[in-house]
Amino acid sequence: MNSDSDLQIAGDILEVPHLLQAPREHPVTVAEFAGLARSLAAERDRWEHLVRYDATSRWYHRLRTGPGYEVWLLSWVPGQGSGFHDHGPSSGVLTVLDGALTERTERGVRVLHAGAQRVFAPGYAHEVVNDTLEPAVSLHVYYPGLTEMPMLRAGTDATGRAPLAAACSAQ
Ligand SMILES: [Fe+2]
Repeated sequence: MNSDSDLQIAGDILEVPHLLQAPREHPVTVAEFAGLARSLAAERDRWEHLVRYDATSRWYHRLRTGPGYEVWLLSWVPGQGSGFHDHGPSSGVLTVLDGALTERTERGVRVLHAGAQRVFAPGYAHEVVNDTLEPAVSLHVYYPGLTEMPMLRAGTDATGRAPLAAACSAQ
């Protein structure tokens, strides 16, 4: 016990239920959303059998929904990528479950290995690619649920947004 503290609780804290917050059924804070992703990541038997590696397109599966949020499971074969995009009004938590993914943003490149998490706010733009020779699996929590994923030209941000069609026709 830290005897230097001015605040000490005598007795059993569990006997003072009005001081304890009831556990929430659904996450509300950023830390709770990140915690949800970490706990799902640790429960491999809840998602491992749902992984599909599809060479024709990135495979995804909605793993869970809750009030205002969605959790998606994505699988990536070597070479598959998202393209440069943002997430509309959604914020999110990206967690790598297996393998490694490379994230490219306007600020640089980082390799995300299994266990790595990225938390992002609305308007955050990035490209995620499996640059390795092994498949990868990732978990994505979006709040609110992802309703749009505008494709961007590299070099633009939310104010210079260019829909994919415009980006393609401009090249
Ligand atoms: Fe994304």
